[in-house]
Amino acid sequence: MSATRPPSILFVCLGNICRSPLAEGIFLHLAERHGLDGVVVDSAGTGDWHAGEGPDRRAMAVARRRGVHLPSIARQVRVPEDFDRFTHLVPMDASNMAHLLDLGAPPGRVRLMRAYDPAHAGLPVAPDVPDPYYGGDDGFDRVFDMLESACLGLVEHLRTGS
Ligand code: 4NP
Repeated sequence: MSATRPPSILFVCLGNICRSPLAEGIFLHLAERHGLDGVVVDSAGTGDWHAGEGPDRRAMAVARRRGVHLPSIARQVRVPEDFDRFTHLVPMDASNMAHLLDLGAPPGRVRLMRAYDPAHAGLPVAPDVPDPYYGGDDGFDRVFDMLESACLGLVEHLRTGS
């Protein structure tokens, strides 16, 4: 990544209809609230089953309840374009991370979502954002909370360079 290149973030999960669209919407919301301008943000899935769809209705519902807009239309990760275009590749779990690395993502640009949460700063490996797809609605509330903490950490990381 070049020092002069503005940050650009691609949030990545499996289907691109639950976790990464929530991460994208929450990050955009917090970046605006904290005066972080000019960051390009997108999300994608390692799978293509839901390409062209909006977020899962349970993700939409929790976002609406908590005042966050989700602009995402699902798409699959594009290789190699996304690896050239984005300075930060942010997988939701270890499986998404392994998949990105297998596809040839530059390891220095890949960091797990929850590694940006200051609560996990001391851990050798950050915990996963669990896949809520096959669970109930309460799973989406828990995922929202995890993403909010991690996105706040990412906003601070980009604002302060920490
Ligand atoms: P996501 O959740 O990776 O957070 O978007 C999933 C969505 C769909 C499927 C799996 C996970 N699926 O198997 O269709």
